[in-house]
Amino acid sequence: MSQEHIHRLDGRIFRDDGADGMVHRAFLRAEGFSAEEVRRSPVIGISTSWSELNPCNNGFRELAAAVKRGVEAAGGLALEFPSISISEPFSRPSSMYLRNLMAMDVEEATLAAPIDGVVLLGACDKTVPAVLMGAISAGTPAVLVTGGPRPVACWQGRPATVDDQWEVIDSRRVGNLSDEDWRAFEGVIHGGPGSCNVMGTATTMAAIGELLGFALPGSSLHPAASPERTEVAEASGRLVADVVARRITPASRITMDALENAVRTVCALGGSTNALIHLEAIAGRAGLRIGFDRLREWSRSTPFITDVRPNGRGLLSELEAAGGIPAVAARIRHLLHEDVPTADGRSWGEVFDDLPSPPPAGPIGDPAAPLTPDGGIAMVRGTLAPGGAVMKIAGAPGSMRRHRGRAVVFDGVADMWAKIDRDDLDVDPSSVLVLRGVGTLGGPGMPEVGHVPIPARLANAGVTDMLRVTDARMSGTSSGSVVLHVSPEAVVGGPLAYVRDGDEIELDVADGRLDLLVPPEELARREPADVGPTEPARGWGRLYARHALQPDAGCDFDFLVAEAQHPGRGDLA
Ligand code: FES
Ligand code: MG
Repeated sequence: MSQEHIHRLDGRIFRDDGADGMVHRAFLRAEGFSAEEVRRSPVIGISTSWSELNPCNNGFRELAAAVKRGVEAAGGLALEFPSISISEPFSRPSSMYLRNLMAMDVEEATLAAPIDGVVLLGACDKTVPAVLMGAISAGTPAVLVTGGPRPVACWQGRPATVDDQWEVIDSRRVGNLSDEDWRAFEGVIHGGPGSCNVMGTATTMAAIGELLGFALPGSSLHPAASPERTEVAEASGRLVADVVARRITPASRITMDALENAVRTVCALGGSTNALIHLEAIAGRAGLRIGFDRLREWSRSTPFITDVRPNGRGLLSELEAAGGIPAVAARIRHLLHEDVPTADGRSWGEVFDDLPSPPPAGPIGDPAAPLTPDGGIAMVRGTLAPGGAVMKIAGAPGSMRRHRGRAVVFDGVADMWAKIDRDDLDVDPSSVLVLRGVGTLGGPGMPEVGHVPIPARLANAGVTDMLRVTDARMSGTSSGSVVLHVSPEAVVGGPLAYVRDGDEIELDVADGRLDLLVPPEELARREPADVGPTEPARGWGRLYARHALQPDAGCDFDFLVAEAQHPGRGDLA
């Protein structure tokens, strides 16, 4: 075998007339492919993460079949291959803990396979960044097909989306929901396979897939299993042959302009805070670093204009009818780089020009009259978060954007549940609920537990929002005044580890500040709280504990950033 074949074997091997080609074709013939099929070109891998342990990706068999039809229509041969599957509901200790494992799996499986290009299937939150990160590092031409949102349910006579579960859970916790309703809810809330049906992390990541030029523009919001989504999958199968022919590598899509378009559109959508971590990781795979200052500058100057759940009233279907992600981006086109390419070969400027004018009515507002004065996402920094922290102000009532209150500290989730509803908890509505020890290394994997519940005594008295500060993440389907991703996290000795009950904490979104109002001399006398897990002795946990970076670096592994690209990654021949 030639040196090139050792480093990188592509689909040409199947058309080789020597022994290598014969052996490769013979194995495929054993799977039932015909003599004609095994000589088709290009050879396209379909990276799937279908799993019964991942309800959001459970429709991928049908989606992969549609991609295959598209590849075959373009004259190619499509070969489906699996990766691990990470689901938000079922992955422990957290889905983020496993994102880099899936990214490594996709990278290695792509590099190991004799293929010319790859179609990446992703739906549930972490699966989209994982496939993109893996593909960027592998360097194989790639197209992304997302799974689409699951059907909206009906609960107590009204449309119900995944975020309604938080209210139901809270009602149950404080004794306001019957046994009968509690049991009935589980049977109706999720109307079928597909990703969460609001502007949560999965939908935000699908939008980013469009913005970065991996997924077809306008494809994010077609419902799972809909005819439109099947069409997108087929079209993407045809498209990947073109991406292969033009030798477009995934890393070449990741430019600072494309990243800016993605961040600004996330802010206009009021998208998930998780997206900022994933975008930093995606940038890192291509040798770029967005950084706090750019994120703050872009988020501050981008209006939040999309009135959809969980931050607003509209459904994703209404947003789709109004033109979907391209229509939102078009409303802020003056802030975007219009020459960034889309997956279908047009520039974003051309996509905007092709949209109907005037735009259809719907939940997309006017940038001149935004839904909040200060954007959808706020970046803050200060003595409590020297590395930065983030707050989704799209989902936060205005009163908490400038707030000072006394800390009530919880060391991890078990401590929080042990104390939060106790009658003797020293808390009032102005208190700041601090949850620490649940960051990148502490969680581990920053579990989505940052949305600390309102203490039962206060909730029953009508309190619906309080300021919360944490090194954890929060589900993209949640809202409220929660400052997340505080960096450095408590277990590495960040200031969060030194907070004590009663300390004053001050948040000022307009100023971009989060401060611990304790004199430095007093802090110097304190010992950090002991909230860290012990380092696992073996396996993934050990690798994770030694190499995971903080959220401001995307929580990727230090050896997976671009300077450390795969040694087998050759230039496309
Ligand atoms: Fe999978 Fe929300 S749980 S997308
Ligand atoms: Mg989520």
